Amino acid sequence: MTKLALFGAGRIGQVHARNLMAMQDMKLVAIADPVPSPGREDLLARSQARLSDAEAVFADPEIDAYLIASPTDTHEWLLRQAARTGKPVFCEKPVSLDFRKVIDIAREIGSAGNAVMLGFQRRYDPDFLHVKEEIASGRSGKVQHIVMHTRDPSPPPVSYVKSSGGLFRDQAIHDFDMTRYLLGEEIVSVSATGACLIDPAIGEAGDIDTAMITLRSESGRLVQMINARHAAFGYDQRLEAVCEKRVFYVANQPATNFISADIQGFTSSRPMSDFIARFAEAYRAEMDAFRALIQQGKPPLATMRDGVEAQRLAEAATLSLELSRPVAVSMVD
Ligand SMILES: NC(=O)c1ccc[n+]([C@@H]2O[C@H](COP(=O)([O-])OP(=O)(O)OC[C@H]3O[C@@H](n4cnc5c(N)ncnc54)[C@H](O)[C@@H]3O)[C@@H](O)[C@H]2O)c1
Repeated sequence: MTKLALFGAGRIGQVHARNLMAMQDMKLVAIADPVPSPGREDLLARSQARLSDAEAVFADPEIDAYLIASPTDTHEWLLRQAARTGKPVFCEKPVSLDFRKVIDIAREIGSAGNAVMLGFQRRYDPDFLHVKEEIASGRSGKVQHIVMHTRDPSPPPVSYVKSSGGLFRDQAIHDFDMTRYLLGEEIVSVSATGACLIDPAIGEAGDIDTAMITLRSESGRLVQMINARHAAFGYDQRLEAVCEKRVFYVANQPATNFISADIQGFTSSRPMSDFIARFAEAYRAEMDAFRALIQQGKPPLATMRDGVEAQRLAEAATLSLELSRPVAVSMVD
């Protein structure tokens, strides 16, 4: 039986905990979350885990691995403590809002030798995996360009926006990661523009809610990303990968496949309500991969290095927006 400790019993911590609790050979034994909430109490009751704190968790020799799903500004310290134990750790993205700290902690945990997995669940989504496999097979020739759309169903509260690190580090980081994953090479230049067109309070908090980002890869392939905090119909997440001989699409997913039709036309379901519903299967597969990492040392699809490189692109996009011009990714260090 593998014994785990969870940091953060909030929105995403609950998703991971539910998936782990469905596995017979994984046991959540400790939950560290200093803020009482109905979600935390419910999870404690369902998992039979004990309420703990970080010091007690890291001192406990019985705990085999850690899952960090607490707010971003806690990740760095928790990762440093985990590094001292050498045990496997899953950490949600982003690692830190301060890129220098991301690099430092990646180095520290790299030399400590912990097995680390980063929370880029989209890599485990069956449709995105299918596109990856098709591209990697080479059957359809080289990728020429990729287009990605990510729109939230509604803007997050301004309190969240203020601590999120901004649209690029918080939301678009998944698209930056997917770009590197699908192309199988690094991005060398980023051109980002953005505006506050949805919620003026987001602009007052110093962020943007709508962005268009163009990327160029080492071998000259192009990516266009569109990121926004609202779509009138709900969650919107789509991809087109244009290869020499074939184009791959990942369509937006409906909540149900029920369609009714009459002489007026067709009515179909609304889309999935949010990313938690849309990527439910990916989150499950992600925890399966974490189990395989802990129990068999099987490398995960998303590593600490992927966390560093996706965030490097978010930093480059931030710089490009500030300077109103394309920037070389090598400017970020
Ligand atoms: N990969 C994804 O799809 C995804 C989705 C959502 C969030 N995230 C990331 O996960 C992290 C958590 O986001 P969330 O939306 O679940 O936030 P949340 O606010 O819903 O939950 C955070 C939880 O951590 C607890 N907490 C606060 N300080 C803590 C500490 N020092 N130690 C332990 N727990 C502490 C809070 O009480 C809360 O219960 C963020 O880094 C976010 O970027 C990733």
